[in-house]
Amino acid sequence: MRIEHPLLRAELAALGADLRSGTSLSELTSLGIGGTTDLVRITRHESIPALIALLEGQNIPHKFLGGGSNLLVGDGELPWVVLQLAKPEPEVVVEGNFARVDAAADLGRTVTFCAKHDLGGMEGLIGVPGTVGGALRMNAGAYGMQIGSYVREVKLYRAAEHSIEILRGEQISFEYRHTSFGADDMMLAVTLELPSKPFKEILQGIRICNEKRRSSQPLGQKSAGCIFKNPPGCSAGRMIDELGLKGLSVGDARVSDRHANFFVNSGQASAKDMLALISDVAGRVEKAFGVKLENEVVVWNA
Ligand code: EPU
Repeated sequence: MRIEHPLLRAELAALGADLRSGTSLSELTSLGIGGTTDLVRITRHESIPALIALLEGQNIPHKFLGGGSNLLVGDGELPWVVLQLAKPEPEVVVEGNFARVDAAADLGRTVTFCAKHDLGGMEGLIGVPGTVGGALRMNAGAYGMQIGSYVREVKLYRAAEHSIEILRGEQISFEYRHTSFGADDMMLAVTLELPSKPFKEILQGIRICNEKRRSSQPLGQKSAGCIFKNPPGCSAGRMIDELGLKGLSVGDARVSDRHANFFVNSGQASAKDMLALISDVAGRVEKAFGVKLENEVVVWNA
């Protein structure tokens, strides 16, 4: 979708939005898949309600993009524009055991920044690509921890109310890869309360998690992390592996040889290829194990 009207472009600019016409989402997603649309980069949180009212007034649908690391976007010209927060300076401010983090902050950099201030707890998330906002929305977790456990306050744009609100941690439910935020809410900032730990000890934990990840996941390849959620009590990766599906491919979309729940783009995969592979694998797992796999990856299909 294109924003062409000069007046609208000027109004967006006045709200501090930076319009990048004809952006390919394949460049903004870790899978390297996705069609083209206009990207609106937001530099001022406070302008978001007015900016969205402006788009809605012109019947321009929109979606919020975080770090693009858990996302499969459809092919071709996309029927909505994409909004993304610009990275602020500084991304993280530490005060005692509290870290106030902008949603656009890089997750890995946030974990190491907090570590340098002797704040731990998030070691498991090292190596998880994406932004803090994305991790928050999905309640990202690994190696026995999840980000939701440390959330004390969240600043967000509430789509239903068309306003910016602050929620306390106990007003939000964080479950396995699921939160109570509305589908169209946009994470803006979060305050985490993290346990004090000496830097050296945190570093040791980070090294262990890095090593585990390197040995079991295809880190150098284009992927969106795990494609399916783990059904209660079992591992999607193990089931897919047991069916001998590593290496199965549709075009350049391929089940990783290293971890069967990672599907990689080994070249020029399209969303159509990836979706066909997802559906094929889910069908085979259901047939063999009677288990319906649910997507962990977020799909924006036009
Ligand atoms: N396994 C296989 N074959 C495979 C992959 C896994 O047999 O190809 C077996 C492993 O040997 C292990 C079991 O399945 O016994 C579980 O595997 P793993 O420890 O790799 O964890 P996972 O359940 O596949 C989850 C998260 C990952 C997270 C890791 C580490 C989900 C869907 N996945 O994977 O998160 O990094 O644990 O904590 O919850 C993500 O969310 O995108 C993601 C990668």
